[in-house]
Amino acid sequence: MILEASGINTYYGTSHILFDVALHMKQGELVCLLGRNGSGKTTTLRSIMGLTAPKTGKVMFHGEDLRGRPSYYIAQRGIGYVPDNRLIFPDLTVRENLEIGKKKSEHYTGEPWTVDRAYEIFPHLKKLEKHLGGHLSGGEQQMLTIARTLMGNPELILLDEPVEGLAPLIVKDFAEKLILLKKMGVTILFSEQNIRFSLAIAERAYVINKGRIEYEGTIAELSRNEEIKQKYLMI
Ligand SMILES: Nc1ncnc2c1ncn2[C@@H]1O[C@H](COP(=O)(O)OP(=O)(O)O)[C@@H](O)[C@H]1O
Ligand SMILES: [Mg+2]
Repeated sequence: MILEASGINTYYGTSHILFDVALHMKQGELVCLLGRNGSGKTTTLRSIMGLTAPKTGKVMFHGEDLRGRPSYYIAQRGIGYVPDNRLIFPDLTVRENLEIGKKKSEHYTGEPWTVDRAYEIFPHLKKLEKHLGGHLSGGEQQMLTIARTLMGNPELILLDEPVEGLAPLIVKDFAEKLILLKKMGVTILFSEQNIRFSLAIAERAYVINKGRIEYEGTIAELSRNEEIKQKYLMI
């Protein structure tokens, strides 16, 4: 187990948002956190990352409790985070955006990421390497954000609604990239409202509703579970 979060209670001010959230990740897994808008997906990822510190609970990562640690420390320990607003540097080129993502990760034992290795996964970015980040399309920016996160050699990547707002063809391309990353041994937890996308690529799922994890199981089990899908995922 590389990540084991349990008993997470998170607040914004006095509003109680997450209730005893628990989830775990094994090395190499591709897992989704599904839920409707406002269900607590972003808050869960931010809680793991220390951007919104949970009031109680444990965020065990390689046996160390990261709860209460600042997010730069959590990043250094090996968790990469891609927020839902695709923060790239608009005035830097694609290559510069990637160079800036380089970071030593204390416990990373895999093959270190380089710009060229990132281009192997995202060949389209190589074609654009001299373009400014601000001139890329939404899909290209999302690829760049993920490639830049890889440059920090994370052991676990948290992706917040990676395909939101992207055109169907790009979503399909993106699904293939995530499967490829999984094959390369990257461990990924992504949040999503798009059930079809998630069912197609993830191996396990958590379903969150009103700040509580209501379901946990394999994708095959979730696909067959009409009740859970109806209750928590249909719009
Ligand atoms: N900065 C904030 N201050 C107060 N409440 C917030 C804030 N961000 C989110 N919330 C509330 O927390 C709940 C969960 O939000 P969020 O984690 O963003 O859900 P999701 O990512 O699943 O759409 C929602 O009810 C939302 O209104
Ligand atoms: Mg969100």
